[in-house]
Amino acid sequence: MDPRQPSDQKHHLFSFPIIIKRELRYAIFFLVILISSIFVLELITTPHQFSRFSFLSQILLNNEKSSKGACDYSYGRWVRDQSYYKIQSYDETCPFLDPGFRCRRCGRKDAEYLNWRWKPDGCEIPRFNASDLLERSRNGRIVFAGDSIGRNQWESFLCILSQGVPNKSTIYEEHGKPITKHKGFLSMRFSEYNLTVEYYRVPFLVVVGRPPLDSPTYIKMTVKVDQLHWFSRKWVGADILVFSGGHWWNEYKTLKMGCYFEDGGNVNTSMSVMEAFQRSLQTWKSWAIQNLDPERSHIFFRSFSPVHYRNGTWNTAGRCDVDIQPEAENLEPEPVNNQLISDIIKQMELEYRNSKVQYLNITYLTQFRFDGHPSVHREPGTPVPAPQDCSHWCLPGIPDVWNEILYAHLLSLGFRTK
Ligand SMILES: *[C@@H]1O[C@H](CO)[C@@H](O)[C@H](O)[C@H]1NC(C)=O
Ligand SMILES: *[C@@H]1O[C@H](CO)[C@@H](O)[C@H](O)[C@H]1NC(C)=O
Ligand SMILES: *[C@@H]1O[C@H](CO)[C@@H](O)[C@H](O)[C@H]1NC(C)=O
Ligand SMILES: *[C@@H]1O[C@H](CO)[C@@H](O)[C@H](O)[C@H]1NC(C)=O
Ligand SMILES: *[C@@H]1O[C@H](CO)[C@@H](O)[C@H](O)[C@H]1NC(C)=O
Ligand SMILES: *[C@@H]1O[C@H](CO)[C@@H](O)[C@H](O)[C@H]1NC(C)=O
Repeated sequence: MDPRQPSDQKHHLFSFPIIIKRELRYAIFFLVILISSIFVLELITTPHQFSRFSFLSQILLNNEKSSKGACDYSYGRWVRDQSYYKIQSYDETCPFLDPGFRCRRCGRKDAEYLNWRWKPDGCEIPRFNASDLLERSRNGRIVFAGDSIGRNQWESFLCILSQGVPNKSTIYEEHGKPITKHKGFLSMRFSEYNLTVEYYRVPFLVVVGRPPLDSPTYIKMTVKVDQLHWFSRKWVGADILVFSGGHWWNEYKTLKMGCYFEDGGNVNTSMSVMEAFQRSLQTWKSWAIQNLDPERSHIFFRSFSPVHYRNGTWNTAGRCDVDIQPEAENLEPEPVNNQLISDIIKQMELEYRNSKVQYLNITYLTQFRFDGHPSVHREPGTPVPAPQDCSHWCLPGIPDVWNEILYAHLLSLGFRTK
């Protein structure tokens, strides 16, 4: 089943009622010719992007994008390619990896999950050229902000980028902090390039803290949807910013734990999790527009990274250790989070008057990868009855592809620090 068959649109286009005056008929005839020639042009340049929005707005959007030579990396398939990681990538000796992401060192026997390459429909992802990106990022700052999946992506990014640096000892944490077991933020300096690649732990993007003083006792904490996390002060001036969020925006990590949403100093107990997420994204957007320089900053918001618990949920013995290759069955529908993120990005593209804002759509390609999680191969020392980890990713692994797509977007935007 391919949801992108363009046939629906064709029907709408040519089924106008024919009870129209003659002059009008000529006018419409030429209009139809005009539109269908654009349509054909679209067919040639971007063959698979039809059914997402209404037909005309899609043409307008695509024209803008294809003129920049961009491609839709979000849609395609996984192809088996045993040489892929051997040529393209790093291995578990990369010094920037959390022990919990080094799945093979943690006992994973199969390496089959490394034998797959993402093949977008109609194009290829350009090869990640670390020395090229290092050169483009000289004297710059690259910021990742989000939850632990964002950290997963940050570590992948560090490992890929450091392949362009022969002497790894020239890369260090600016404040001497160890890379594991930290809270807060880490900043890796690539000293030969005067570049930092930073990670900020902000699971909600906005502030989480004590409720107002007069609150009833069942309200233990609040997520303050109108205040961006104070770390945001440190993000100002960055050249590339990669945001993410979503895994904490569920009832288990909020309402069911007595963590409610606060807006304008008042706790609003009737605000749902998705309403709160949307409010927080608006807060994020206003901050970005006020604080980031559209000439300088390239802003990405990564879509939701799917979790793959089968036969139960994370807390009812759900598992993902039975999977050893990508699977196209049982793909989940697109989570609501993504629509909210992509809507905010569209609003920003209009207000920011700049196309350096990008929705990094990795959900679909990631959904296939039931096999890419640490599962039972968790960090050494994890108690045996602990739930399986079917939300983070083994590294090297799937977040490498997200970063390749990130690089591809930077290339098509002509990114280079000023
Ligand atoms: C993300 O990409 C997938 C695959 O191309 C597509 O089906 C989905 O609609 C996209 N999501 C958004 C919010 O654009
Ligand atoms: C990578 O980029 C560098 C610097 O721009 C260039 O010299 C080199 O040829 C590129 N390597 C590949 C494999 O494209
Ligand atoms: C390093 O980059 C910063 C900007 O991030 C700049 O102010 C500084 O002058 C640079 N240092 C050197 C030695 O080039
Ligand atoms: C690697 O970098 C470190 C730190 O700058 C330096 O002390 C060391 O001499 C370098 N090693 C080589 C082989 O250049
Ligand atoms: C609480 O949030 C809901 C949902 O966003 C909203 O409709 C309602 O007006 C809010 N209540 C107050 C008192 O602000
Ligand atoms: C799934 O759960 C059922 C019973 O709840 C059990 O019989 C079956 O073996 C489980 N399958 C896997 C793959 O764990």
